[in-house]
Amino acid sequence: MSRASSLLAFADTVRGFMPRAEGLALYDEARRVARERPASTWLEVGSWCGKSSVYLGAAAETSACVLFSLDHHHGSEENQRGWEYFDESLVDPHDDRLNTLPFFQRTIAQAELERTVVALVGHSEVVATHFDQSLDLLFIDGGHAHDVAWRDFENWTPKVSLGGTLLIHDVFEDPSEGGRPPYEIFLAALASGQFVEHAHEGSLRALTRVR
Ligand SMILES: C[S@@+](CC[C@H](N)C(=O)[O-])C[C@H]1O[C@@H](n2cnc3c(N)ncnc32)[C@H](O)[C@@H]1O
Repeated sequence: MSRASSLLAFADTVRGFMPRAEGLALYDEARRVARERPASTWLEVGSWCGKSSVYLGAAAETSACVLFSLDHHHGSEENQRGWEYFDESLVDPHDDRLNTLPFFQRTIAQAELERTVVALVGHSEVVATHFDQSLDLLFIDGGHAHDVAWRDFENWTPKVSLGGTLLIHDVFEDPSEGGRPPYEIFLAALASGQFVEHAHEGSLRALTRVR
């Protein structure tokens, strides 16, 4: 089995919310960026346990790109106790808070991607303020609450380079399928005139920065 196939098979075993078809589309987008822009800098907002990081990392390592994977690792609103996507096994007994960092680290170590996927542990808005590097690939899959998603859009999309790729997850046109904010920021990216959509798979949208 090739290195890429074994990483994609491994990604299937990592806990997370991304359907396989979307993970493979994410990988395909990232492979294209890796080919067109070797050794470039990428960032994802929302690591969770590292599932999307493996899809992206599998592509990144093919041409020495680096993926920064950003998360405070305490889960989004919907991951907290009493909410739909709460998972007791992710709670740290020391402080009774959700902590996905050890699971993320284990995923990246098992995938042998530690020199390709670099964890940024912190609040997205804090890191964005001090992050100057331009990005050839940005994947937004962080908090889906209104304010959080809009801050990610406002803080991170200006860092995408001309011709660079913006990927947004959980974009649902039909409100019965999922929350509004990812769809709203997708529309805002198009309305800005700076991005055009070039592909989609399920709830994953891929855009190119055109100006
Ligand atoms: C939908 S999950 C990411 C899923 C991941 N991409 C995957 O493939 O499994 C969203 C993540 O965003 C993180 N998050 C939410 N708000 C954040 C913020 N303001 N700063 C940093 N991380 C945040 C949560 O901790 C959570 O792990």
